[in-house]
Amino acid sequence: PEQMGEDLQEVLLTEEQLHGRLAEMAARIDADYAGRDLLLVGVLKGAVMVMADLARRISLPVQMDWMAVSSYGSGTKSSGVVRILKDLDTDLHGRDVLIVEDIIDSGLTLSWLLSNLRSRGAASVEIATMLRKPDAAKVEVDVRYVGFDIPNEFVVGYGLDYAERYRNLPCVGTLAPHVYGG
Ligand code: PRP
Ligand code: MN
Ligand code: MG
Repeated sequence: PEQMGEDLQEVLLTEEQLHGRLAEMAARIDADYAGRDLLLVGVLKGAVMVMADLARRISLPVQMDWMAVSSYGSGTKSSGVVRILKDLDTDLHGRDVLIVEDIIDSGLTLSWLLSNLRSRGAASVEIATMLRKPDAAKVEVDVRYVGFDIPNEFVVGYGLDYAERYRNLPCVGTLAPHVYGG
């Protein structure tokens, strides 16, 4: 098999840029949640890299839990259909919750997730996302921490997949046309 680098068309964000921005986001989270009992909720599978790198830059003794939801299937377009594939193990009643995501595309996943988690009696529910596509928004989502706003192009890497591959790229980039079978 080819190396992943040959499948990239363009690197949008380098590993250094991603990690630098995560350090800034973590510092803000440290300040905003000082003295509170924060629960990070990672959204599988895309948020795995962001969760791991963000959590290690936060100085507070946070808890981490995971949900698996899916809206994309294996293609490149958002369907708007959100399914819970794995629910939280944690009771959210009275908790300060920070949802950790890799990307907000249409906003449909997080819009649904926000109201779902809020209905469980959390004290607060906020969102941290590494990437956001403002031009793809179908629904407005109030996001507390954003890494980077990016153009409305299909990107992979740093947790983001194309047909379940390329999540392990350390950078974020666009795929070369030959990958799509063109
Ligand atoms: C992707 C991405 C976000 C969501 C964003 O997840 O990781 O969770 O879609 O899209 P939206 O804003 O249009 O709802 P996906 O459903 O592909 O699952 P995955 O994380 O397992 O790749
Ligand atoms: Mn996801
Ligand atoms: Mg996906």
